[in-house]
Amino acid sequence: MASSDHLKPGQKGEIKVTVDLRGKFGAIVKTIQVITNDPLRRRTNLLMKMRVKDLIHARKYEADEIFKAPCRGCHVERGNSQKKFSLFMSDCIMCHNEGRSALPVSGMQAKAREEIEKALREGIRKTSMPGWDAKHGGPLTDEEIRGLVDYIKPAARRSRN
Ligand code: HEC
Ligand code: HEC
Repeated sequence: MASSDHLKPGQKGEIKVTVDLRGKFGAIVKTIQVITNDPLRRRTNLLMKMRVKDLIHARKYEADEIFKAPCRGCHVERGNSQKKFSLFMSDCIMCHNEGRSALPVSGMQAKAREEIEKALREGIRKTSMPGWDAKHGGPLTDEEIRGLVDYIKPAARRSRN
């Protein structure tokens, strides 16, 4: 609804829009058609972009909740019996990618291997990054952890002498 049906040139108004989000999630685009008496542009389309969280993700949660049901179905089990790159693509990419909450692999490579391994094993407090090794309640074995570190940042090759 428009705040006024009469605006003088240069004057500002407001348009209130309600979107029915029931059953919707992900990226949504709506257009609003504005009809005016402007002789040059009688119709103007306004584009409204939204990002709607699904019900599961709409609330706040502790980082290690993703290891429990029902979250683990998507956040852990897809990575079962995967290693290195494919394990990363199953368990990590949803947060570690461009436009997501955490750094993509290219950004993580700026850190030392020890730092990467520590964050992966222990998690990072006050963020959504849980500790992934068994000691911290996570689902990954030592071998899987080492495989992920090798994928993120391959060890520098020893120079032959
Ligand atoms: C149906 C599969 C599925 C389930 C179930 C699921 N997630 Fe997710 N989760 C995803 C995907 C896919 C993403 C990547 C973000 C996106 O695409 O919206 C994600 C992203 C996240 C993120 C990162 C959000 C961000 O912006 O970086 C967190 C935190 C998270 N989920 C927690 C949970 C928790 C806690 C539960 C259980 C209560 C859960 N998820 C259940 C699929 C799932
Ligand atoms: C639910 C989202 C989520 C998932 C899944 C997740 N991470 Fe993270 N991760 C984060 C967040 C958030 C941070 C902290 C970013 C910051 O420094 O603020 C982080 C930090 C890290 C760091 C420390 C370096 C950095 O980027 O700050 C490493 C290494 C890391 N994650 C690796 C992984 C690996 C490997 C996996 C898969 C086993 C994984 N993460 C899964 C959210 C996630």
